[in-house]
Amino acid sequence: MENSYILKVKNLQKNFNKKVVLKNISFEVKKGFVFSIVGPSGSGKSTLSKIILGLEKPDTGEILYKGTPIKTLLRKNKKKFRKEVQIVLQNSASSFNPRHKIKNILKEPFIFHKIKYSEEKIIEILKQVGLDESFLNRYPDEMSGGQRQRIAIARVLVLKPDLLILDEILRGLDISLQGQVIDLILKLKEEYGFTLIFISHNKKIVEFISDEIFEIRN
Ligand SMILES: Nc1ncnc2c1ncn2[C@@H]1O[C@H](COP(=O)(O)OP(=O)(O)OP(=O)(O)O)[C@@H](O)[C@H]1O
Ligand SMILES: [Mg+2]
Repeated sequence: MENSYILKVKNLQKNFNKKVVLKNISFEVKKGFVFSIVGPSGSGKSTLSKIILGLEKPDTGEILYKGTPIKTLLRKNKKKFRKEVQIVLQNSASSFNPRHKIKNILKEPFIFHKIKYSEEKIIEILKQVGLDESFLNRYPDEMSGGQRQRIAIARVLVLKPDLLILDEILRGLDISLQGQVIDLILKLKEEYGFTLIFISHNKKIVEFISDEIFEIRN
């Protein structure tokens, strides 16, 4: 059934400066699944995620999101698409304005996407990511890396994404913190019901959490 897939990637190819970065990439992501993309450093994982988000164009191939080509969505339904598909990167938190309190950092997506804002909503989301309201008035510098990453996750949850891409968010964390973040992500997936594309170079972790795995070889 067509609508049991949230994403279909068909035969993507991408070159940078005549160097082949992605070749013959085809897969389908079922709604509600944890779908992982695994491959070594430089294999094109982040390039692939940028193509899915419509931030890079493939040289050939096509992506369907909920049955519609992304090309069409970006032309006709960009705001909705930009709201429904979210990404968190390993260093997402590094783009936080250091002069803004967490309260304001979490408020930005409400303003940008014209969602009704209330402080209760962000307190609720803070709790869901394992923090509390005492963080509202802190600055990014006053938090640990792990806490900032939770804010980065909270910031996209505000938008209740249908598809969430996590690109190497465990890289650089020690093992126990990795376990905590995985537990958190799986818990949030149950609560929010998003489909998850989990990008990692770590096969062991991916095998542990995924319903399906796509491996990029190069
Ligand atoms: N904008 C760009 N211009 C030129 N080359 C690029 C560009 N973006 C990525 N590349 C190259 O494409 C290849 C794949 O990069 P990409 O970042 O997608 O890999 P990755 O699998 O995400 O790696 P990592 O595990 O280190 O994050 C690399 O050789 C990289 O140098
Ligand atoms: Mg990458």
